[in-house]
Parts: sequence; structure tokens; C-alpha cells
Amino acid sequence: MERRTIKIAMNGVTGRMGYRQHLVRSLLALRQQGGLDLGDGTVLWPEPVLVGRREAALRDIAGRHGLEHVSTDLAAVLADPEVEVYFDAQVTGAREAALRRALAAGKHVYCEKPTALGFAAALELARLARAAGVKHGVVQDKLFLPGLLKLRRLVEDGFFGEILSVRGEFGYWVFEGDRQPPQRPSWNYRAQEGGGIVADMFPHWDYLLHELFGRVRTVQALTRTHIGRRWDEEGRPYEATAEDAAYGIFELEGGAVAQINSSWTVRVHRDELVEFQVDGTRGSAVAGLRTCRIQHRATTPRPVWDPDVPTAEPFRAQWREVPDDGPVDNGFKAQWELFLRHVVRDEPWRWDLLAGARGVQLADLGLRSCAQGRRLTVPEVTL
Ligand SMILES: NC(=O)c1ccc[n+]([C@@H]2O[C@H](COP(=O)([O-])OP(=O)(O)OC[C@H]3O[C@@H](n4cnc5c(N)ncnc54)[C@H](O)[C@@H]3O)[C@@H](O)[C@H]2O)c1
Repeated sequence: MERRTIKIAMNGVTGRMGYRQHLVRSLLALRQQGGLDLGDGTVLWPEPVLVGRREAALRDIAGRHGLEHVSTDLAAVLADPEVEVYFDAQVTGAREAALRRALAAGKHVYCEKPTALGFAAALELARLARAAGVKHGVVQDKLFLPGLLKLRRLVEDGFFGEILSVRGEFGYWVFEGDRQPPQRPSWNYRAQEGGGIVADMFPHWDYLLHELFGRVRTVQALTRTHIGRRWDEEGRPYEATAEDAAYGIFELEGGAVAQINSSWTVRVHRDELVEFQVDGTRGSAVAGLRTCRIQHRATTPRPVWDPDVPTAEPFRAQWREVPDDGPVDNGFKAQWELFLRHVVRDEPWRWDLLAGARGVQLADLGLRSCAQGRRLTVPEVTL
């Protein structure tokens, strides 16, 4: 096998996503399996260049994983002709400027969502990428989760008949930080730093709804900052200026209605941290990260409302598990593999900066819908 090395600048690897999902579980996992087999006698070998602001933290990670390249000088990294791809998992507020620099340097770019703090900037990034003629991509990891892959299979098989509605429940309790340490970074709760659950989750809902059920045509959202005071990483109290819960209703092309609750202020009484119930004329499904259960029209019970009689139906037991199709890889890694194939082999790819801009648009419109107290049309995004 011939080995082709691809140097990838990775910015934000000291963060939660950058380190665990993108470096360790994706690119290092690829190296552990011997590289990415391109199927033509070539194996692609990702060579990360760890970029960031704190050299000691970068060197620590590099040392732990036997990596050679670290830098605190983004300009120098982008000027290096050997670096082909720039990847960004920094805090959201730092992304746009860095992506602009990478595009200006002619690098292929791949990044976390949301791609920018607002729709105009996100769209401009997509325009710049197209003008630069580079390959570009945005993380849409939820599409690669085993439970949602099963759900996609059901949709494509026509299991549901006409899809009527989608109910999504996402969330868990994020500790305020005074007694237990919080599980999320404090910038998530500061609007001025790109925080808020709408910017965080609506981009995910946009691509999930779009790909599985139909483009989002309208949005109506109600947001709340339920907890106004939290404690940061150093134990200092701060005012939460960004919403920590969003209650959204989305009308989809094709007629289905999706209703999704997103909350960092809810305690879990579900099987998974995210669950979607899909109801159709011929059947229903409940899908989470890993599992997916179905109930067919023919096996649907016939409940009759009678408050005087205890419920006789074991409703939960009446659903059947959709079997696994085989082992499923980490979703972030699966998407990285497709992106790298797109870069070096020009294989098809649709999760680009324009798709990323669509997610940012939905977040912007969700917040505006709440501010204005009305339902808003979501225009189709084109360049
Ligand atoms: N795809 C997903 O499921 C998913 C999940 C969580 C977060 N994200 C996205 O990933 C990105 C990173 O989120 P995270 O939870 O890893 O955040 P984090 O706070 O854990 O990490 C942020 C990274 O950005 C760096 N950084 C650069 N400039 C900074 C600045 N001015 N202030 C603070 N840090 C700075 C930090 O050093 C760190 O490496 C965000 O854009 C977020 O929306 C995606």
C-alpha cells in the first residue's frame, strides 16, 4: 500500500469537541487503524498540526499522543504549503475570522457548527469558499448516529406511510456550577460569546429535519433563560445572558410538523439524551442516539379514554426494536472519512458551508421569532 500523508491544521483541540471527538475519536482513531484505505492501493495518513493559543496545553496533548506538530502561529501554519486542510472547533465566536484566513490561504476547510455568529456571515463564508474553489465541510454528526441511521432506513423504506409529525426531546440538567462542576463551558451561557441553546442545537435540527423529513419552511420558537445565575470554570458567579431552553415548532416541506424541545434545564426521564418520535399513517418510531423502536399500524393498540379504569395496555412493551445493521463507527469519524475522501478523491459531499449557513439561518430566525412573538418563514438558502 502506498501511503499518502495529509497535513491537517486543527484549531481548538484543547476544547471538548476538538480533543475528544475530532482528534482522539476521529483522526487518531484513523491512524490507529492504519490510516484511511482509499480502496485504490493508497492509504491516507492524517498528520495533525495542533494549533491554539496555549503552547503548553498543545505540547501536552501532542506528547500524550506522539504527535510532532504544534503551533500558536496560525498565520505560519496557513502559509505552510504542506498543510492542505484547516479544521476549526474553537469557540463559535472565533470561527468566522479563522475560516476567512484559511480560505484566503487557499486551504480546504472543515469545521464545527455553527459556522458563524450570524446568517449573513455564514453565507459569506460559503461564498468565499466557492470563490476560492476549495473543498469545504461542516460537522453534521447526528446524521451518523446509529439510532438515526435506523430512522433514515425506515423513512427510505416507506415504513411510515405519510409522515404526520415529529416530536423531538433533547436535553439534560447542566449543573449551575456552585455545588457540582458544570458539564458545559460557561461561554455557552453568554449571548455575547456565541452561547445559547438555539445557536447550539437549531443547526442540528435543521440538517436532521431537512435530510430525513423535508426542508424547514417555517419556525416558531419560544426561548427562556430559566437559570439566570451560574458559576464559571473558576467558580466565579456570572449572569447567564443566553437562553438555556428553546421550545420550537417547525413546518416542513411535504406537510409534516416537527416540534422540538431543547433544554439544559430538564431532568432526564427518557431512555436517551435525545429522542424523536415520528408518527405516520402506517407506523410510528421512536429513535434516539443508539436505539430505534417501531410500532406498525397493524399492531397499534386501541386505547379508550376512561379515567375511572387503570391503564390496561403496557404501551412501552408494544414497540419492537429495529435491529442493528452491524457495527457503527463514531459519527464524527465517519464524517471525517467522507470529507477526506471528498478532498483527495473528489467523492460526493453535501454537508458544505452552504448547508452550514442553512443551520445558522434557522437559529437566527428561531431567536427572531421569539423576539417578535410570531411564526417566521424560512427562505431557501442559495448563493
Ligand atoms: N457537533 C456537536 O455535537 C457539538 C457539540 C458541542 C459543541 N460543538 C461546537 O464545537 C465548538 C467548540 O465547543 P466546545 O464545547 O468544544 O467548547 P470548549 O470551550 O470546550 O472549547 C473551545 C476551544 O476553543 C478555544 N478558543 C479559541 N479562542 C477562544 C476564546 N477567545 N475563548 C475561549 N476559548 C477559545 C479553546 O482554547 C478551546 O480549544 C463550538 O462551536 C460548539 O458549537 C459541537
